[in-house]
Amino acid sequence: MAFAGHARFLGGLIIRQMVPRNLETPFDQADSYLTPTQLFYIRSHFPAPNVDIASYRLRIDGAVTTPCSLTYQDLRGMPAETRVAVLECAGNGRVFMVPQERGAQWELGAVGNAEWTGVPLSALLERAGVAEDACEIVLEGADQGRPAEEPVPPGPVSYARSLSRSKAQQRDVLIAYQMNGRDLSQDHGAPVRVVVPGHYGMASVKWLTRISAVREPFHGYWQTTDYGYWDRLEGNPVRRALGEMKVKSEIARPRPYETLQPNEAYTISGAAWTGESEVVGVVVSTDGGHTWSEAQLLDPAQRHAWRRWKLDWMTPATPGRYVLFARATDANGNVQADTHDPSYGSYVINHPLPIEVFVSNPATRSK
Ligand code: MTE
Repeated sequence: MAFAGHARFLGGLIIRQMVPRNLETPFDQADSYLTPTQLFYIRSHFPAPNVDIASYRLRIDGAVTTPCSLTYQDLRGMPAETRVAVLECAGNGRVFMVPQERGAQWELGAVGNAEWTGVPLSALLERAGVAEDACEIVLEGADQGRPAEEPVPPGPVSYARSLSRSKAQQRDVLIAYQMNGRDLSQDHGAPVRVVVPGHYGMASVKWLTRISAVREPFHGYWQTTDYGYWDRLEGNPVRRALGEMKVKSEIARPRPYETLQPNEAYTISGAAWTGESEVVGVVVSTDGGHTWSEAQLLDPAQRHAWRRWKLDWMTPATPGRYVLFARATDANGNVQADTHDPSYGSYVINHPLPIEVFVSNPATRSK
């Protein structure tokens, strides 16, 4: 596994790429329920556009009875809701893939739990009057460019994703302008972004400028060529858009390759999350998956938010290499599978990830 030995940091975040900005949370430091904004990962495909609040307009059009264009102040004047939701990039944990996969080598920190405030998308759709026969809602950002990975269509591609009509009409999908009680920063999508709780991060379109109801399923770049997976239809492989997050637990401490003392009381800790449900249990193995112990969940069960957990452990007396795993179960009975499902390519890396640690030899400790 190719962990970055000497990570470079920008303001507390690990640099994966400077332009466009792709920065990762040092997951061992994400020990609060809400990930502080300055430690929240950033995943952008193009340089962040500078969207001016004064001239900002959110267009709502397509298969609607009353197309409209809202200003930032119009949105701020509408009844707001605040929700806690996890965003996890679908490529989080890619560095654990064997053999190594193309793409940003995210370790454990392309995930965070934040409090989002904004207007429910459903309220905007009600206002515009979605046509009976509209099947999806397309959400488009102000950023555009040429994607990094082939195949690439000619001409610029803007960042656009669709949601099924039913998900778009759920009250918890927000057109958000605040994160953790503060106006959004540019990297997190200012002035306005979508937050789709329960879905992988790619659904939460930043720098949102257009909401469009469509009568045919949308097959845009970011849900077919990228952020898609292989399904089967009557025996044939077909491409579908990634959507709901799968249940997952990550170990924050110890860190990968951390050295621990033998016979020491050590608290293993981490966080677990899932899609349209709640995490109900986490088990941890300290012997490479032979035996498992129930961890203690620290946060209440709340749909779309993560639950931190801990397990008190006596480190082994015998020095050597040990492999730790954590495995979560959700209220729908989903359990993390043993291995990565290749239908997802280099995405949806939700199998229990091996965290290797070393228990030192006390005889050599002071040398
Ligand atoms: N929205 C736009 N307009 N452009 C992007 O590149 N990246 C998506 C999503 N929204 C993206 C976007 C991806 S892949 C993720 S994981 C999340 O934003 C990351 O949100 P964050 O940078 O606020 O953590």
